[in-house]
Amino acid sequence: MRNLLAGNPVIPVITLNRVEDAVPLAQALIAGGLKVLEVTLRTEAAVEGIRQIVKHVPEAIVGTGTVCTEQQLKLSEDLGCQFMISPGATDGLLRAAASASIPFLPGISTVSELMRCMEYGHRNFKFFPAEAAGGVPVLKSFAGPFADISFCPTGGIGLHNVMDYLALPNVLCVGGSWIAQPKLIDEKDWAGIERLAREAVELAS
Ligand code: 3PG
Repeated sequence: MRNLLAGNPVIPVITLNRVEDAVPLAQALIAGGLKVLEVTLRTEAAVEGIRQIVKHVPEAIVGTGTVCTEQQLKLSEDLGCQFMISPGATDGLLRAAASASIPFLPGISTVSELMRCMEYGHRNFKFFPAEAAGGVPVLKSFAGPFADISFCPTGGIGLHNVMDYLALPNVLCVGGSWIAQPKLIDEKDWAGIERLAREAVELAS
């Protein structure tokens, strides 16, 4: 998980409402320089959309997001995803993820949640909801007692604050929906999404 996150400082969080949008959206993000794509399992279109991306956009590194059940962990593997991300972590999820064939990124927003996931061997976390849970100052505070722990903050991140997060030594990457914006997807504005992706890549580099 760490290798995947470290080489890809911005991960677009994608919510698909129509299967037909999956491939052109993934192609736009890849063209803009973003190849790690998190597709949330929040909509009916998500599963078939992921299948289409895996099949038709082989250069994409696709993972599932909003993974909340053990069935969704199994589904992520079956779909050919390369990683899976949860906004939180339960004992059931952590136990099942331990024997999964692809890496799992649990979500935490407090010290005790983080320590509980560390008991299962995790060293990389989604910090969610990043801005609402205290943002940059919290991650700076985590760096003291948890020096070897890394984060992918997500939630409330956009162009206005992405660099504040990426400047932190314990932040490997950030996630967010500001690139694959629902409005632009609805309008099928693939050029606009590609532009936002390129802008994020340029900022992050
Ligand atoms: C999510 O799971 O919704 C992500 O954290 C995205 O959050 P954002 O929409 O605030 O970027």
